[in-house]
Amino acid sequence: MLADCIYGSEFDSMYGMIHKAIAEMVYEQAPEGLLDPVAEMKEGRPDLFFSPSMHSDEITLEIMSCAATTLGLPMEEFMIRFGEFWIRFADRGPLGAVMQMAGGSLAEFISGLDQIHVAVREALPSALLPKFRLVEASATELVFAYISQRTGLEPFVCGLFQGLLLRFGHDGTVSRVLREPDHEIWFRVILERSKC
Ligand code: HEM
Repeated sequence: MLADCIYGSEFDSMYGMIHKAIAEMVYEQAPEGLLDPVAEMKEGRPDLFFSPSMHSDEITLEIMSCAATTLGLPMEEFMIRFGEFWIRFADRGPLGAVMQMAGGSLAEFISGLDQIHVAVREALPSALLPKFRLVEASATELVFAYISQRTGLEPFVCGLFQGLLLRFGHDGTVSRVLREPDHEIWFRVILERSKC
């Protein structure tokens, strides 16, 4: 069911969707008239933005670093902002239906997140996708585990959940839970109050 929203959409066989989102973010947020190296890259190497085959993480990092420089942000801050942007990017266009199906509250959404990536894996079989697990949930606080084969994406995860707080109409904060090194990284989301 979720896979139907990805198959047949503009994202079918499209390993460049993350790069396309970065290009859109730079286009939206860069000061007007500033030379945009990501747009130049898109023109020179369209295969990086719409491709039937997997790209290496080095290419993604290169595009991110280019985008961070254009926006005048340190890499960590860029990753946070890109996480927030990704939620808005996924919510509009064909991926919006997939986002809708994951759940109607933040706690439900965290529990449904793996379903989104299971559908993504059907469309993009070589993708290395993370897993999420809701560890604790109360009216004011959620703790979730992030399990990934990659390292260094924690600021991106923080930004994603800041974007989700906004999406669900909450004020709040997202922070990493310090614990013994483990294959799981835990985050705590404090729900301060609803904006609705
Ligand atoms: C329709 C919505 C979504 C789609 C289509 C999607 C798709 C993808 C794709 C294609 C990748 C890269 C895989 C690779 O290059 O190997 C990825 C990575 C990732 N996604 Fe999603 N995603 C969606 C929503 C979300 C949401 C809502 C979250 C969290 C709130 C999330 C968290 C992540 C993270 C943290 C990564 C980094 C990969 C890693 O840790 O190894 N995604 N996703």
